Amino acid sequence: MDLKSTIDTNRLPRHIAVIMDGNGRWAKQQGKPRVFGHKNGVTAVREITEAAAELGVEYLTLYAFSTENWDRPAFEVNALMTLLLETVRTEIKTLQKNNIRLQAIGDLSRLPSKSRKALESAMEQTKNNTRMTLVLALNYSARWEIMQAVRTIAGKVERNQIGADMVDEQVFENALSTAGMPDPELLIRTSGETRISNFLLWQIAYAELYFTPIFWPEFRKDHLYKAILDFQNRERRFGKTSEQITN
Ligand code: IPE
Ligand code: IPE
Ligand code: MG
Repeated sequence: MDLKSTIDTNRLPRHIAVIMDGNGRWAKQQGKPRVFGHKNGVTAVREITEAAAELGVEYLTLYAFSTENWDRPAFEVNALMTLLLETVRTEIKTLQKNNIRLQAIGDLSRLPSKSRKALESAMEQTKNNTRMTLVLALNYSARWEIMQAVRTIAGKVERNQIGADMVDEQVFENALSTAGMPDPELLIRTSGETRISNFLLWQIAYAELYFTPIFWPEFRKDHLYKAILDFQNRERRFGKTSEQITN
């Protein structure tokens, strides 16, 4: 039996987040420059987006560029920004055809204006699509996101728009760039690294973490199915006992 048909579509994670890692090492393995790995990573993005939408996942968030990634050599940063521009431009047709809405989280103001405009245009064009939301984390860092949420809320308190004692989890979530999205239930990281690297720190409080040694450019639909099946075999207890969950 194929993997896909063994997935229980009634118990899908509503939101899957992915730390797409290992492009550079994958390229190096075959004696190619790191940028070759990034280019091939686009194929995996396409495959996984399609697979998630076909299954009925509501949100797919992909970590594409972290705030810390600006510290890479300028050549690589430029190549990544150009790749973003090209990919957004060429994939818009497929997004429309597949009824997928594109959104972005992160500080987009620091992206090169061409890339930012292409992204904003694609988000505008796809805003009424309903099948799945694809969220790109770009110039994203969870600590940055939390700090800007704190500033937003502090400003409201300062202007007496809200009392300090009214600040609760809901108010805080509404100030995050993921406002309105369900928390990721499954977080996948490729390439064998087992760290979070400043990704969605607030939102993954109760996410199931899945690590795979596969490098991102080699990640395919079956790898996603495997991760989802693993997720479905776990008991999510949320602090309760196993007996409470099964009864
Ligand atoms: C992930 O692959 C892509 C980005 C972070 C932009 P890497 O470029 O981090 O590849 P490795 O981890 O060096 O192999
Ligand atoms: C995390 O990968 C960021 C993205 C996947 C965009 P990195 O390769 O930058 O993470 P570290 O530096 O190894 O933790
Ligand atoms: Mg990496």
